[in-house]
Amino acid sequence: MDVLVTGGAGFIGGHLAERFVRDGHDVVVLDNFDPYYDVRLKEHNVEAGRAAAADGDGSYRLVEGDVRDAELVAELVTSTDVVSHHAAQAGVRADIDPRKYHEVNVDGTLNVLDAARGTDLRRVVLASSSSVYGTAQYLPYDEAHPTKPVSPYGASKLAAERYGMVYADRYNLPIVALRYFTVYGPRMRPGMAISNFVSRCANGEPPEIYGDGSKTRDFTFVEDIVSVNRTLLESDAADGETMNVGSGGTISIEELAETVRDAMAPELDLIYTTGYDIDAEHTHASVEKAGELLGYEPTRTIEEGVAEFVEWYRENQEWYEPLVRGE
Ligand SMILES: NC(=O)c1ccc[n+]([C@@H]2O[C@H](COP(=O)([O-])OP(=O)(O)OC[C@H]3O[C@@H](n4cnc5c(N)ncnc54)[C@H](O)[C@@H]3O)[C@@H](O)[C@H]2O)c1
Repeated sequence: MDVLVTGGAGFIGGHLAERFVRDGHDVVVLDNFDPYYDVRLKEHNVEAGRAAAADGDGSYRLVEGDVRDAELVAELVTSTDVVSHHAAQAGVRADIDPRKYHEVNVDGTLNVLDAARGTDLRRVVLASSSSVYGTAQYLPYDEAHPTKPVSPYGASKLAAERYGMVYADRYNLPIVALRYFTVYGPRMRPGMAISNFVSRCANGEPPEIYGDGSKTRDFTFVEDIVSVNRTLLESDAADGETMNVGSGGTISIEELAETVRDAMAPELDLIYTTGYDIDAEHTHASVEKAGELLGYEPTRTIEEGVAEFVEWYRENQEWYEPLVRGE
């Protein structure tokens, strides 16, 4: 199958592109190598995709370009079977202009959706986010939970996802939106709690917690994200549906720091620092819907996933650590 992975040089898109190639698909990656984190990490992701192509039956082609370029997007979307739309200004950050979130995440998605009209695409997957929920009225979130984002990022992901569902309905397109809950694993983006804690512990530095560590998160191992996306390539279930993809578990940031510390450097204390964070207090996914529609089952507890990431980190410390530590 021909698969277009937008944002395929990024963390999640990189894993998807690599796996799709290993599964024998012909993958085209569209990515603009946005420098909001070290682009050398993205180059490693591309290398992984190319290595998969060198090993197996699938192929890998990189197109350096922008999802805001409607003409380029149309050209790529109309010459593929599946679109896996993962390009985005990701991350809830206060220092990024809301307009950038809007232009990349909303306008970029509209370019994909407009190009999809009138095609016979087999599937369009839109990467959405738990950030669409905002403040929790109850937990775990099911998909019927009210959506009231508390960040421009969350607002942009919600708008993009809603456009997707409108296009699915109006133009009868096979679109699915997946609300990912904080994703982690090998080659993860810098500046996230798990990569920060692991890199500090690896260097004998106490893990540093922003705030009091009482925020709770549902952390999802990247392999589980890959698995649900592979299912969507094979199945035509769930058209026009939006669903959570999380681990179904939850842990406070303080407990997470303890878990990493206990696994890597039990002698270290935790330290607390003031940090500005504009994201939700708590996230926790109900994954029942993805389970019913797609047979989705998370495979790692946070302890198992952290242990796996720590092992990968140690094996890849030489190249990964300077990138994740901004050195
Ligand atoms: N990582 C998470 O915890 C998480 C959680 C929820 C949702 N998501 C969503 O999953 C998707 C992938 O996230 P990620 O963590 O891999 O982030 P990432 O930043 O590693 O990947 C996004 C990729 O998109 C590319 N990109 C950015 N702007 C672009 C543009 N204008 N044109 C083309 N490419 C562009 C970037 O260069 C990057 O390689 C995003 O849609 C994100 O919103 C991620």
